[in-house]
Amino acid sequence: MTSSVTVHDTLPEDHFAERLHADVRAGLTATPKSLPPKWFYDARGSELFTRITRLPEYYLTRAERQILRAHAPDIATHTRARTLVELGSGSSEKTRVLLDALTAGGTLRAYAPIDVSRTALTEAAESILAAYPGLEVDATVADFDQELPIPDGPGPRLVAFLGSTIGNFDTAERATFLSRLSAALTPNDAILIGADLVKSPTTLTRAYDDAQGVTAEFNKNLLRVLNRELDADFDASAFDHVARWDERAERIEMSLKARHGHTVKIPALDLEVGFSQGELLRTELSTKFRRPRLAADLGRSALTPTHWWTDPQNRFTVLLARPTERTR
Ligand code: SAH
Ligand code: TRP
Repeated sequence: MTSSVTVHDTLPEDHFAERLHADVRAGLTATPKSLPPKWFYDARGSELFTRITRLPEYYLTRAERQILRAHAPDIATHTRARTLVELGSGSSEKTRVLLDALTAGGTLRAYAPIDVSRTALTEAAESILAAYPGLEVDATVADFDQELPIPDGPGPRLVAFLGSTIGNFDTAERATFLSRLSAALTPNDAILIGADLVKSPTTLTRAYDDAQGVTAEFNKNLLRVLNRELDADFDASAFDHVARWDERAERIEMSLKARHGHTVKIPALDLEVGFSQGELLRTELSTKFRRPRLAADLGRSALTPTHWWTDPQNRFTVLLARPTERTR
């Protein structure tokens, strides 16, 4: 018998037609130009991201996996989770470390991955189902900027948000996201966040500008998505991949930089967009954290961190937090 997963799709039918159109129109007519990162992740984008996680320069995935390996049994003991929900689960590769510990702890019943990338989600859910017979795998295609379809039970639920995806929000978006997440939890639930830490600018910029050019390819994949979905005529070779460290905001800013002045046509939006030589189109932010800042951000959203773990080299942190107890 071949088992199969149920993939719920909460994305409205007009997801590409309406949301992508609105995002692109707003982002490309603004100064400076920018686009939201969720549009990177079509099938090819998700594959390229998986390649990024294996690059020698991209230490984040290895550091986070190392932390999870060392502390997954503690996470299982502290949470006794019956449902593991995961936001932006992608390939769910590292998640196996958590699934193993929660299964060994005897509490886990269900795994609920949530991702905007239908292809990555479906593949991941199928291979998890095959590897963990008896586990209920409940996958949902959703845009967590719009909604948090966290299943009702069985509790306690542990909501994992790994890969330093929390760093891809700006400060205001992060506050909004954490408050929505906090509001979706009951006092028994917990969240597990993986966040990259501030370190040497050289190490950081290399992680987002690798020698093989996989990250550049990933960045430019956004243009392919626009060409395909909006019939646009972006020429990827007219842009350079740029990753720079913003010392003040403590974040990496990833952009596509126009090599020369030119105009791009986007027929689906009835729009022409001019780029001047050297103009930046910002495609991604990757905020790097210090513990006090993250603790303060969580606190403002009524979340209290209870445990912090780091790798031996202090590159990355995984933290466990719970809804702040309300005294009345
Ligand atoms: N958790 C994995 C993948 C991180 S990459 C890891 O740690 O390696 C970020 C993931 O979040 C991708 O799988 C992407 O498809 C997903 N994602 C990005 N923006 C999203 C959004 N707005 N809603 C839902 N998923 C999103
Ligand atoms: N959450 C990942 C990070 O901030 C996402 C990411 C890694 C990424 N490399 C990228 C996003 C390159 C865009 C381009 O590290």
